[in-house]
Amino acid sequence: MIFTVGGIKGGSGKSTIATNLTVWLSKRGFDVLLVDADEQETATKFTKWREHITRGASGYTATVLTGDAVRQQVTKFKPKFDHIVIDTGGRDTTSQRAALFVSDVYLVPFNPRSFDLWTIADVENLVKEVRSLKPDELHAFSILNRADPKGSDNKDLAVLLSESFVIDYIAPAIVSRKSFANTASSGLGVIEGNPVDEKAVGEIDQLFTKIMGIIGVVIDANFSAKTSVK
Ligand SMILES: Nc1ncnc2c1ncn2[C@@H]1O[C@H](COP(=O)(O)OP(=O)(O)OP(=O)(O)O)[C@@H](O)[C@H]1O
Ligand SMILES: [Mg+2]
Repeated sequence: MIFTVGGIKGGSGKSTIATNLTVWLSKRGFDVLLVDADEQETATKFTKWREHITRGASGYTATVLTGDAVRQQVTKFKPKFDHIVIDTGGRDTTSQRAALFVSDVYLVPFNPRSFDLWTIADVENLVKEVRSLKPDELHAFSILNRADPKGSDNKDLAVLLSESFVIDYIAPAIVSRKSFANTASSGLGVIEGNPVDEKAVGEIDQLFTKIMGIIGVVIDANFSAKTSVK
């Protein structure tokens, strides 16, 4: 499967979701390619830290692509990997469009109480446009990220996101937790944190497992994470 993590808003958690998804899939034994299609190169910096901390055994392959090269190169890489995760910037760029044309799944994080919500219609239009030009299906999911641990704002946003006929809202929400920033700054997924943040891991696990269920990716529950590092 090819996953693009994107949207039209900066700082919503795209790189956090993309890097955690990459680590999560690789820990389940999949051969994953992480494509950094954002000129800020957050995913690349993450991988550099990870390579340092794991002494080169990051567990996945990483590359940087921009513009239409995303479409061309990802099409070339497709048969070589089980899954490809593309991290894009927070704008409607050539790179993001190129990524969407070759993707099966589009993941769009939204934050509560932010200007993100104003971009829902724009993201819907982008998805509709790409779908009209693309022969294969593009499954689009909205994710509530940096959610409040308590309060009604999450629910309000979830209701709003659920109203879309173009992008499917998928629960659970990912609550704002320090462990995401702490693990990311050392090139680790939240599932690799030490100490492990059980709540964050639970949310990420539930969310990704649910997405895989919907798109038909079979996860081997008995797979030993230790053997997955390539
Ligand atoms: N669930 C979360 N809990 C706590 N912090 C988070 C969470 N998700 C993201 N962050 C933090 O928010 C900041 C922005 O996240 P991230 O870099 O993933 O966003 P982005 O959408 O990729 O941004 P950009 O548009 O600049 O590429 C980072 O410092 C990250 O650690
Ligand atoms: Mg980013």
